[in-house]
Amino acid sequence: MQWLDIDKNIVWHPYSCLSSSDEPIFVKSTKGTNLYLEDGSVLIDGMSSWWSAIHGYNHPSITKAAKKQLENMPHIMFGGITHKNAIKLSSLLVDITGMDSVFLCDSGSVSVEVALKTALQYQQNKNKKTFVSFEYGYHGDTFGAMSLCDPTNSMHSIYGEFLTKNIFAPAPPLGFDSDISDSIDIFRKIIQKHYQTIAGVIIEPVVQGAGGMRIYNPKFLKEVRQICDEFDLVLIFDEIATGFGHTGKMFAYEWADVKPDILTIGKAMTAGYMTMASMLTTTKIAKGIKDSQAGVLMHGPTFMANPLSCAVAIKSIELLISSPWQKRVKDIEDIFTKELSNALKLTLVKTVRNIGAIGVIELKSDKYSKQIQNYCKNHGVWIRPFGKLIYAIVAYTIKKKDLVKIVQTMIGAIWHIENKGDI
Ligand SMILES: Cc1ncc(COP(=O)(O)O)c(C=O)c1O
Repeated sequence: MQWLDIDKNIVWHPYSCLSSSDEPIFVKSTKGTNLYLEDGSVLIDGMSSWWSAIHGYNHPSITKAAKKQLENMPHIMFGGITHKNAIKLSSLLVDITGMDSVFLCDSGSVSVEVALKTALQYQQNKNKKTFVSFEYGYHGDTFGAMSLCDPTNSMHSIYGEFLTKNIFAPAPPLGFDSDISDSIDIFRKIIQKHYQTIAGVIIEPVVQGAGGMRIYNPKFLKEVRQICDEFDLVLIFDEIATGFGHTGKMFAYEWADVKPDILTIGKAMTAGYMTMASMLTTTKIAKGIKDSQAGVLMHGPTFMANPLSCAVAIKSIELLISSPWQKRVKDIEDIFTKELSNALKLTLVKTVRNIGAIGVIELKSDKYSKQIQNYCKNHGVWIRPFGKLIYAIVAYTIKKKDLVKIVQTMIGAIWHIENKGDI
């Protein structure tokens, strides 16, 4: 049997079923910002492996750090044991986030679960047990995380009965400079009504990612911070997608000059090499856990603080902070701004938006995403649109000509549908 037949029959892919008619692209290797396929073709990567490969693929110094660690100690349990890599990575994370303590876990969704457990334990003696999240939010695919995702535009209709009932506030309005007063008023009213039962609030700072690629005014975060302080709510910032420079700041909450009580990060933390994420807390929250009934945070995954992932994360962060990443991300932003504006001439396009290394075309209809993806693939570009959103999130090391090609190919695909019909 051919490889792709076996894949089709026995291998699950994200958000897919077995025997799907959607054939995946068959990647043989990666280098820089290119994907090399088994059939000999090459695609420029417009996805950076779902926001993670910020330095491009196969960076020599990350690979070297991983090899060295592999020979020394690929893994050791973390219960009752520690190692230099965990200590060094945690210290680096504390330095760059301004948070005070670090829980190293397996994936973004798990870090959200750990954040929820931490907030619940912190609020336990006050009997505060629900969370406020925002429409268009996305926080992961595990049950706690799913319960915080946009209730309409997510998996609530499938798993609804099994999901914890949280409260959803209207999303902040679109636009980095938009007037936020109405949505903050509504948010305040929701909190005033329910604060006695609310443990915390969770939000993706400045860009709501997978739930809508929505860029909003950072002032919204400042107001949310103030309301959480007023009503004794734990504020969780989910920077799994936005963190490590994607919006032009190391963490998007820096745009608002505020800090959360709990922070979740992942994806780019390990530069697309290994799976690892992290939940960070302030000293106040950590102390609250120590003083809680259990006295300890009840979470401890088998692969917690995996030394190999730590080695890769340390090297990736060192690389990032020693590179001119702000300039690189700004250059990417400028190219997106210039190139995306050409999409506005097309009738199928509703709007475009971009910030940092993120560029988005929103269509009026969601029915073209597969065609657009195929067109891009056939023209040397890898993207994975969802619904109406045709977007790219790129490595900071991408060459200007490759980024221009990504955007022009996305626009070319839409132009083609508009002017020539089916692709
Ligand atoms: C904001 C946000 N939170 C959580 C997650 C879940 O992370 P993971 O896919 O690593 O479980 C994602 C993934 O896209 C995300 O964008």
